[in-house]
Amino acid sequence: MKLAIVEGDGIGKEVIPAAVRVLDALEMDVEKVYLELGYGKWEKTGSAITDQDIEILKSCDCILFGAVTTPPDPNYKSVLLTIRKELDMYANIRPIKPLPCVDCNFEREDFNFVIVRENTEGLYSAIEEIGEDASYTKRIVTRKGSKRIAEYACKLAKSRKNELTIVHKSNVMKSDKLFLDVCRETASEHEVEYSDELVDSMAYKLMVSPEKFDVIVTTNLFGDILSDMSGALVGGLGLLPSANIGTEHAFFEPVHGSAPDIAGEGIANPIAAILSLKMLLEWHGDIMQAGLVEEALESSLNMGVTTPDLGGSFTTEEVTEAIVEHIEIKI
Ligand code: NAI
Ligand code: MG
Repeated sequence: MKLAIVEGDGIGKEVIPAAVRVLDALEMDVEKVYLELGYGKWEKTGSAITDQDIEILKSCDCILFGAVTTPPDPNYKSVLLTIRKELDMYANIRPIKPLPCVDCNFEREDFNFVIVRENTEGLYSAIEEIGEDASYTKRIVTRKGSKRIAEYACKLAKSRKNELTIVHKSNVMKSDKLFLDVCRETASEHEVEYSDELVDSMAYKLMVSPEKFDVIVTTNLFGDILSDMSGALVGGLGLLPSANIGTEHAFFEPVHGSAPDIAGEGIANPIAAILSLKMLLEWHGDIMQAGLVEEALESSLNMGVTTPDLGGSFTTEEVTEAIVEHIEIKI
């Protein structure tokens, strides 16, 4: 595996080294390519990501990414949007399930759902007109873009409970009617049971009865919001991993950002980054290693070795050490 590693900035510089230590403990054949992207690079060079960086990323099989801070500059070119677009990573996958011994903000622990978010279109088109008195952002929904995310979601649904929930707002935004129609057609073709929900009512239903959902497919902005909201169900942003999957490349990152409020203190929860590594291993077909990472992580939680966001008093390094020790015994 040729793996690009981007720590980014803030707690990216703490949680990605933790995930790399876990990867090293698995003793796999991995060629690591480190890249500096993001705020630090922008401060030094005026550019957070260059064409050359994109070429290096394209030459790798996959990317493990931390987080980048967004500077307050209207001309700033987003690193994440650039990578998602240039490497055509159309599917953003965010699994949401409770972890053992973590106080969920939800009284029941029987939910386990995945948000499949369209990652290249919608309101994140970056086609904008910014004026003094009026500003516009173009929302793009295409048949091709909707079809491939619907196909991805249906295949995932088939490997799970064969249930799909299509989330949209087609009663107000006519562009969503195309998305809804394509998702319905695709679910019928794959013989996946489906229903649809308006995004506002879906937000409510996910908070009161998350156990009713399995695979959820939606457009870019709705998926972004619903997944951060769902972080509240499992007990914190420090626990949520994600994958960005394209036709040729894949990119794995924690859902959280660079957390400047705790950066440099050594107390960031490394679990979201380590679970992102687990998703990377699954994508690459290293199922045994992915299982071992999950088992080691659960063992550290069962022992109560947690960072302050989960009520513990351990550091990022100590949590990582507990996970690595478990892997070293088993490997
Ligand atoms: P954030 O996710 O960085 O932090 C939100 C809150 O959650 C903070 O209180 C933080 O301390 C806490 N938190 C997040 N991850 C944690 C972890 N692993 N362990 C313990 N606590 C954790 O979101 P925020 O503060 O809105 O954004 C900070 C910066 O990150 C901004 O510049 C934003 O643009 C950027 N950002 C970058 C993302 C990325 O690179 N993928 C995603 C989201 C935000
Ligand atoms: Mg987000």
